[in-house]
Amino acid sequence: MDNAIARARELIGSARRLAVLTGAGISAESGIPTFRDAQTGLWAQYDPMQLATEEGFRADPALVWRWYAWRRGLVAGAQPNAGHRALAAAQSRYEHLALITQNVDGLHARAGSTELIELHGNIMRTVCLDRCGFAEAAPERLPSGEPPTCPRCGGWLRPDVVWFGEMLDPEVLQAAGAQAARCDAMLVVGTSGLVYPAAGLPVGARRAGAPVITVNPEATELDGLAAVCVRGRAAEVLPRLLAAQAPG
Ligand code: OAD
Repeated sequence: MDNAIARARELIGSARRLAVLTGAGISAESGIPTFRDAQTGLWAQYDPMQLATEEGFRADPALVWRWYAWRRGLVAGAQPNAGHRALAAAQSRYEHLALITQNVDGLHARAGSTELIELHGNIMRTVCLDRCGFAEAAPERLPSGEPPTCPRCGGWLRPDVVWFGEMLDPEVLQAAGAQAARCDAMLVVGTSGLVYPAAGLPVGARRAGAPVITVNPEATELDGLAAVCVRGRAAEVLPRLLAAQAPG
């Protein structure tokens, strides 16, 4: 792993514009379960069609609402880890650091990252299921049993996350694509690379000539396009990868 870290540090250290794509793996060491890890992943234990689709919500709003209330509780009790903190600390060392995340847990923002693109929404925000325009971020006011109704139109409120079968916000996706196309290097941390359009961002960066560096304890779908694959856990690898270079 040391050779891979040294090579990755060179690539990341010579970039002026760094783009970073994170997935569930970066929050694993904060105690937030990933989706696809065997046994511990959420989709190994729960049915995404029941819990992460509009049809599933409409079929049993209380079940889906309670599942998200449980996940909100996990997130509220979790702390950003050394990986989140290393990325936040690295912001000041780049002309531009674009942090693009698939995570809905808000831990990057809590670690201090400011330029954050949340591709899949945020679990602490609630919006009207019928898209009347109502949205709020007041998780402390949300009930844990029955879903609340929209104060504007009376429909159900739902978590402001992207469910299966839904489009990402086109402006958010466009902003992420622009950062991928303009970066000098892209760091991809803790994602299986199976979910599109997020997984297409490293492809865009590579096509634009930027080297891609992956950080993951396991092999991923994106390793084939990576210049360097660092096999390790985010909270251990990122502080080493992003530590300030000694003045030379
Ligand atoms: P996955 O659960 O698919 O993948 C998690 C990745 O994290 C795997 O490649 C693991 O090997 C890796 N991993 C586990 N522990 C790690 C650690 N400590 N450090 C680094 N990596 C680690 O999660 P995502 O790729 O993020 O979508 O999933 C993408 C999307 O699928 C999610 O955003 C979610 C899900 O359906 C929505 O909710 C819309």
